[in-house]
Amino acid sequence: MSEQRGFTLWFTGLSGSGKTAIAKVVEQELRDRNLRVERLDGDIVRQSLTRDLGFSKEDRDMNIERVTFVAKLLTRNGVAVLCSFISPYRARRAKSREEIGEFIEVFVECPLETLVERDVKGLYAKAIAGEIKNFTGVSDPYEEPENPEIVVHTAEETIEESVAKVLAYLEEKGYIPVG
Ligand SMILES: Nc1ncnc2c1ncn2[C@@H]1O[C@H](COP(=O)(O)OP(=O)(O)OP(=O)(O)O)[C@@H](O)[C@H]1O
Ligand SMILES: [Mg+2]
Repeated sequence: MSEQRGFTLWFTGLSGSGKTAIAKVVEQELRDRNLRVERLDGDIVRQSLTRDLGFSKEDRDMNIERVTFVAKLLTRNGVAVLCSFISPYRARRAKSREEIGEFIEVFVECPLETLVERDVKGLYAKAIAGEIKNFTGVSDPYEEPENPEIVVHTAEETIEESVAKVLAYLEEKGYIPVG
């Protein structure tokens, strides 16, 4: 598949909304179609490339700036890049879009109420108790996308339904062959 077309799927949304869960399944689906894929995930990147950074606005933007640099290089070399980062700031996401070019924003939407119920990492309870400052959605801002290419509603859809939406978009726009 040497004519594979590069693109970056940019998953943005609150912690626990399902960015990683959905991106992992999309990754597997693309691999099954023999496409080149790289997945860049907040939790992993923050232990390596950006382990020096915290959660102030400046550090969050720097986190995304560095990841965007990597995503840009991969995208222009024909790789399918899956980025899952809270990436709460609209202006920073807009810069990433501009730099990467073939940028597909996926808003992973889920009401706070459901996130607090799920509390996958146990962080919402701590944030609500005031034990974590700068926690997105509780004590730190999240600026929702205004014109995302794709929106998935994870309180109402299954992971598979959200994945199907993403794949359908990629096929429809000719980013991947119809499977
Ligand atoms: N419809 C759904 N879509 C996605 N995830 C779902 C759905 N229903 C339940 N879940 C569950 O919600 C959790 C989402 O957690 P996940 O780690 O993917 O969130 P995240 O957005 O990557 O968070 P973080 O920003 O903290 O990395 C998973 O445990 C997943 O199984
Ligand atoms: Mg995640």
